[in-house]
Amino acid sequence: SRGVSRSAEGDVRVAGVSVHELAAQHGTPAYVLDEADLRSRASGYRRAFEAAFAEIGAGVDVYYAGKAFLSLAVARWVHDEGLRVDTATGGELAIALRAGVPGPHIGLHGNNKSDDEIVTALEAGVGRIIVDSLVEIERVADLAGARGLVAPVMVRVTTGVHAGGHEYISTAHEDQKFGLSVAGGADSPAMAALRRAVERPELHLLGIHSHIGSQILDPSGFEVAARVVLTLRAELAERTGVLVDEVDLGGGYGIAYLPGEVALDPDRIAKDVAASVQASSADLGTPLPRFSIEPGRAIVGPAGLTLYTVGTVKPVRIDDGRVRTYVSVDGGMSDNIRPALYGAQYHAELVGRVSQVEPVLARVVGKHCESGDIVVHEVQLPGDVRAGDLLAVAATGAYGRSMASNYNQVPRPPVVAVTDGRARVLLRRETVDDLLALDQG
Ligand code: LLP
Repeated sequence: SRGVSRSAEGDVRVAGVSVHELAAQHGTPAYVLDEADLRSRASGYRRAFEAAFAEIGAGVDVYYAGKAFLSLAVARWVHDEGLRVDTATGGELAIALRAGVPGPHIGLHGNNKSDDEIVTALEAGVGRIIVDSLVEIERVADLAGARGLVAPVMVRVTTGVHAGGHEYISTAHEDQKFGLSVAGGADSPAMAALRRAVERPELHLLGIHSHIGSQILDPSGFEVAARVVLTLRAELAERTGVLVDEVDLGGGYGIAYLPGEVALDPDRIAKDVAASVQASSADLGTPLPRFSIEPGRAIVGPAGLTLYTVGTVKPVRIDDGRVRTYVSVDGGMSDNIRPALYGAQYHAELVGRVSQVEPVLARVVGKHCESGDIVVHEVQLPGDVRAGDLLAVAATGAYGRSMASNYNQVPRPPVVAVTDGRARVLLRRETVDDLLALDQG
């Protein structure tokens, strides 16, 4: 069984496990991850892109972007489902390797990689290091050369396409830290970096990488960016005689956070992108490269929810005399920073019982010492919502636990996987003793 079900008596189950049982066994707050759901999204993306790109005669690899959430089990699940793993730091790389993901199936990103991270990646034989600056091209080449290795690299470029849910998570416009700009044609920073990567014998230039942003719901940006990258590839071939084999189109596939919102459909987008790259490469007169994509949120986001227990409930009179019911829960911005950081919207439901009481305008808030500590800005909850009630917040699987903090010395919640009626802890709950253990007095 996959997904959330609710009986007439209000018994809510995730993958066949009752939320009461989960709360009783593991406490709250807790992140709950539906393994079958995650796996089917992973294989769904892989199948959709493989099918659509097979139609145009191109291969494609799907890398799961581990920044969205990574643990040993999750790395194994996505590997089982035929995905590769994209990492952005030495920590993510270590988890992927420890999980048994083969080095050649791992990519390493980062705009400021340490020597340690680069060397670990080289020694693990990662399939690709995505380089993000001219200086890094020299560093990776030097570190590889010193070890008698040839580093497989992609150059990350910025296409000028500005996409995604929030300025902080849009990555391909000009004034930000990632990638090398394609602006300037033959003299662009991107072209200079690609040429340098071709020149250095310690590097094998696999291809060009573009990531345009995150939580993208308008698919046209992917098509525009793909065209820009394919054009750059053709220009590089003209200038150097090297037609690179691979193009990565990044991640960023948007999901539904609220009831009624519609996620990007992987089949649809795969077909659209495939059609557009086919048209571009016909115009350019270059054969198609192998493609890859790096979805994170779309794989793990909808597969996760957070369970909270309600504490204080406080009616607060707002602007025009209306009342907003502030419902405090036992977590907050330490387990989900996204509302505070991006103004992200979520949906909460009472899951422990059924109430016939009229809904009221509510705001779900955390237990931290800031008024911006909001879990759900605006939601209708039954008017009798009270201490001890269980609330579930949907679609918290991505960038929840992975961006969690210990603000106010709050221990981070566990991640509990549910599969076929059974629950298993993937990451245990932190304790105050864990926090004290770091403190050297
Ligand atoms: N590839 C690269 C190079 C990336 O930088 C990212 C995300 C991804 C793939 C995966 O993007 P996704 O498919 O998950 O959208 N913390 C923010 C999202 C930051 C995304 C950063 N890079 C949030 O909570 O919305």
